[in-house]
Amino acid sequence: MLKNQKKILITGAAGFIGSALSKNLIKEGKSIVGIDNLNLYYDKKLKLDRLKDIEIFNSIKKGGWIFEKCDISDRNHIFELFKKYKPTIVINLAAQAGVRYSLKNPESYIQNNIIGFSNILDACIKNKVENFLFASSSSVYGSNKKVPFNEDDCVDHPVSLYAATKRSNELIAHSYSHNYGLACTGLRFFTVYGPWGRPDMAPMIFTKSILEKKPIDIYNFGKMQRDFTFIDDIVNCISACSEKPAFADLEFDFFNPKPSVSFAPFRILNIGNGNPIELLDFINILEEKLGLKAIKNFTNMQRGDVKKTFAETSNIYKWAGFKPKTNLKIGVDIFLQWYLNYYHNKKFVSSF
Ligand SMILES: NC(=O)c1ccc[n+]([C@@H]2O[C@H](COP(=O)([O-])OP(=O)(O)OC[C@H]3O[C@@H](n4cnc5c(N)ncnc54)[C@H](O)[C@@H]3O)[C@@H](O)[C@H]2O)c1
Repeated sequence: MLKNQKKILITGAAGFIGSALSKNLIKEGKSIVGIDNLNLYYDKKLKLDRLKDIEIFNSIKKGGWIFEKCDISDRNHIFELFKKYKPTIVINLAAQAGVRYSLKNPESYIQNNIIGFSNILDACIKNKVENFLFASSSSVYGSNKKVPFNEDDCVDHPVSLYAATKRSNELIAHSYSHNYGLACTGLRFFTVYGPWGRPDMAPMIFTKSILEKKPIDIYNFGKMQRDFTFIDDIVNCISACSEKPAFADLEFDFFNPKPSVSFAPFRILNIGNGNPIELLDFINILEEKLGLKAIKNFTNMQRGDVKKTFAETSNIYKWAGFKPKTNLKIGVDIFLQWYLNYYHNKKFVSSF
């Protein structure tokens, strides 16, 4: 652990976003405690390999990285770790992710996303954490028709349990922020893609199927749009927010010059690309780059899914001076380079 440094505790550190964020913060010379329960929701080897990658990076950079295996729903263990490391910044990324999985496994969402999340909040209050950030999701916008999705839009109608737990996190965090003065920033991520991605998400599923010449299920007959956001943009935004604790608006709202209803040091911010694309166009890009055709199986919309996501990005820019900027074709190139190297030990030559 580096001396005289603000310690950052990241939950879900072996996950897609958590591992990329850990490396980004190590690069910035930060002192980090990463925790994860290494659950089996998807291939555990991928999580262990991400941790190995962080360790190698940390030893090259002579960083201050420590990993602890811990389940955030284990309250005593969480309190022990907070006491041991005394973090000043906490970034909660650990969660049961996935929309479709929530239809069959609701208990996992309550256990991890509600009970686990509340344990982290309690530990933050007890240990006087200075800045708490947490992962929310574009899924809270449900089937809203008005685009782009703005942080002030109504998000009272979640269409999946996953979205309901993420919205609950925002509401629970607001009450802690209001009552205990905890600086909280909820970050609504929009479909993240890139190296070390999640095998249950479209970019990984599509790439695997195209390479193995297996059919791809294309929901809602392809009439879906996603605001794909590159992992580097996401972690750069989180890093920027980790240095800027939310503050109370008092009588002035930072984003709108009108009296605010919230007096808590609390922010909700979208982190998305602000440039949604059709799923079929995304598949076209993969096909062109891989030089292979996808076998498409057009099918109905899945329960719990939404047709479109589209982030309004002006508020994250105003707050943290940061706007996601990675062009989709460049981001897909970087993703495929990693994918072919990791799964096939091959170099990627873009067919563009
Ligand atoms: N990837 C996206 O596109 C996206 C979009 C919106 C929101 N999010 C949110 O961002 C966060 C990170 O997502 P990700 O894509 O990296 O997912 P991920 O599943 O790759 O990472 C989550 C990590 O948390 C760990 N974890 C889960 N429950 C835990 C628990 N009880 N205790 C300790 N560790 C636990 C898992 O083992 C995993 O390594 C999640 O909260 C997710 O809901 C992600």
